[in-house]
Amino acid sequence: MHVTRVGSLPNALDAAIVPPMKKLHGAVALLVASCTGFLVACGSTSTSGAGTSVVVDAGSAADAAPTITTTSWYANGKPFVDRYCRSCHGGAGPGTGDFTSYENVSALAQPILAAVTSGRMPPGASDPKCRDYANSDRRFVSDADRESFAKWVAEGTPKGEPKGEAEVPPIDETIASPDLVVKAAAAYAPTFSNPNEPGNEYRCFAIKPGLTGNKFITSMGPVLDKKSMIHHIVAYRIAEPNLPAAGKNFPAEGWSCIDMVNAGINPSNPFQGDGMIVAWAPGTGAFKFPEGTGLSLKSTDAVVLQIHYFQSGKEPAGTKDHTGFAFKFADSVQTPLLIAPVGKTNFRIPAGDASYSYSGSFGPLPVSLKIYGTMPHMHVLGTGYELSVTNGSNPSTCVAKSDHYEFGNQVTYFFKEPVQVPAGAKVDFRCTWDNSAANPNQFNSPPVDVSYGERTDQEMCYAFTILAL
Ligand code: HEC
Repeated sequence: MHVTRVGSLPNALDAAIVPPMKKLHGAVALLVASCTGFLVACGSTSTSGAGTSVVVDAGSAADAAPTITTTSWYANGKPFVDRYCRSCHGGAGPGTGDFTSYENVSALAQPILAAVTSGRMPPGASDPKCRDYANSDRRFVSDADRESFAKWVAEGTPKGEPKGEAEVPPIDETIASPDLVVKAAAAYAPTFSNPNEPGNEYRCFAIKPGLTGNKFITSMGPVLDKKSMIHHIVAYRIAEPNLPAAGKNFPAEGWSCIDMVNAGINPSNPFQGDGMIVAWAPGTGAFKFPEGTGLSLKSTDAVVLQIHYFQSGKEPAGTKDHTGFAFKFADSVQTPLLIAPVGKTNFRIPAGDASYSYSGSFGPLPVSLKIYGTMPHMHVLGTGYELSVTNGSNPSTCVAKSDHYEFGNQVTYFFKEPVQVPAGAKVDFRCTWDNSAANPNQFNSPPVDVSYGERTDQEMCYAFTILAL
């Protein structure tokens, strides 16, 4: 283990916070103690090279030749956590721990690195090499960035000095001057009392937007209250008479709704006036549809927000949240957007199969279309998916793909460039599940065959796809 003698221990505060959390070698602890006692002496060994500092190998302190660290918090640590982790681990988010200070990240460097190298974090997302989408550069750690962070950890997380490194800006979640913010009539305190979902609660709130006429949504974004409790938000539109019984009278405290039908949506029938608007999770950001396009919201529609609350431990029990969703409208658009569920229901996932894939296709399509984005959706056994377009004998075009699907991180991917689908092409999909006993999300012991259904212990295979004809 290496410890930085210069830069990372500028004052007694670092020494007080860091040692109890790091498993410090005895010799290192001694070095820390002496450095805090003799700051001037420690500081005087500073080298003047750009971003470098002298370190001593504490494991063999007697014969240690000083080695040069080439990394620093400012160049290797902070930009990494700001880029990939801050949307959830920024103190206010749902992620465990606050990764905004040098002290915290330095103390947690090993578990942070382990979560990244194992692929657990950041949570699974569509591969931007398949098709690039908004904020993709924040959802997939590049090899270069992972290596740079790992090097900083290997060098003992030296703090170093800022050298004018560019700040990684936070992801913009809000939209400016919205026309409408939908929120429950009152703040709600999740109880996390469902024994089947420890630490999680899926709550639906129906809201009457009170629009004066039919509108088109042109941009939207969440209005977050207790961000640490929000794992994801799904917004639906639904004609008032079709609201599920529990939501009929727009109860301020909402209703329990992990299933889509319970939330008020018929997943196979989104063209009938009822349909999804968006699935949002930290890092998705606010979204603007391309110029001249928009999603319909009728004056007779209610909006349902399904909020997945998560007990991150950052808020005391009983904390109330009043999160909503903001929209900007146009009265008319050239190209109305539609949301189509690409997927089918006639699958049966064999008990015990750790990697069962089901695929199908739609087409040849009678018309051409443009695909603007998609939200892949399976339940808890889902592990991977692929959506692609094939036109004749041409190689197929990847639309969305992941080998690391997570039920807890469902996101709408808004593509940087729409996918042009010519008439005659077909749209192919694949879903992959792990129905083995080893899957930590497994409901059944022993596993049983699982088929299509609304319940979380049944499965789905849809990509809710935003398109225009
Ligand atoms: C989209 C939100 C999100 C992002 C982005 C995210 N995390 Fe997490 N992270 C969570 C949540 C939520 C938890 C709590 C446990 C869970 O749900 O898996 C968590 C838990 C963790 C844990 C503790 C549990 C474990 O698996 O080790 C570590 C460490 C961690 N995250 C590291 C990171 C790092 C490092 C990054 C950035 C490279 C990152 N996370 C990005 C949401 C996120």
